[in-house]
Amino acid sequence: MIVAIDGPAGVGKSSIAKMVSDELGMYYLNSGNFYRGVTYRILNLGLDPAKPDDCVKAAKEAQFDVKDGRFYLDGEDVEDKLHHPSIDIWSSKVSVNPQVRSIVNERIHDLTKRMDVVADGRDMTTVVFPNAEHKFFFDALPEIRARRRYEQNPGVMDYDTILKEINERDEIDRNKPVGGLKIAPDAVYIDTSYLTINEVCEKVVKAVKGISIK
Ligand code: DC
Repeated sequence: MIVAIDGPAGVGKSSIAKMVSDELGMYYLNSGNFYRGVTYRILNLGLDPAKPDDCVKAAKEAQFDVKDGRFYLDGEDVEDKLHHPSIDIWSSKVSVNPQVRSIVNERIHDLTKRMDVVADGRDMTTVVFPNAEHKFFFDALPEIRARRRYEQNPGVMDYDTILKEINERDEIDRNKPVGGLKIAPDAVYIDTSYLTINEVCEKVVKAVKGISIK
């Protein structure tokens, strides 16, 4: 069974998707980590993330794995190294490249073959798992997403800079020629603006179990 979740940056997808996968005993896959991993690799190898050929080379040669919810790149657990501000912004740009997207999608399919998976990202419900049994789209106002990010790490970046960056990433995500952020017609839309992580998780788990969430 596949539970696919999409939504914009900072909406709480990964925390909620992880919680849902624990609750349902399913494998959790955060597709954003693949784009972050490619970007990490580009920057570490001294390649140029603004050059499409460098991005494709870094993606092609990368070894990805997900074990116990941790993301491995070239055999190394890099889960805690992927949330640097330069990776936030560059991964958004690197992920526009259609060739990088197709390499990432192929690896995701290889890793999740014959598994029960909760996968989150921007195109899980539309491109990567169009036949997922359960699809969700999480949304929240940009100001609320920025406020949550600010409160998670107060003092690291000011609120206005975070909001500007969220709006910039939304713009890039929505306008990608391939894999752009869209609401699948068969996805359950959840506005998380005024819900806690636990409340959203409960809605998703109930929906997957066939209990009405209206
Ligand atoms: O979800 P995230 O912020 O960790 O994702 C990092 C970047 O990767 C983000 O800017 C958008 C991109 N991304 C994507 O294009 N498609 C996905 N399925 C997941 C993430």
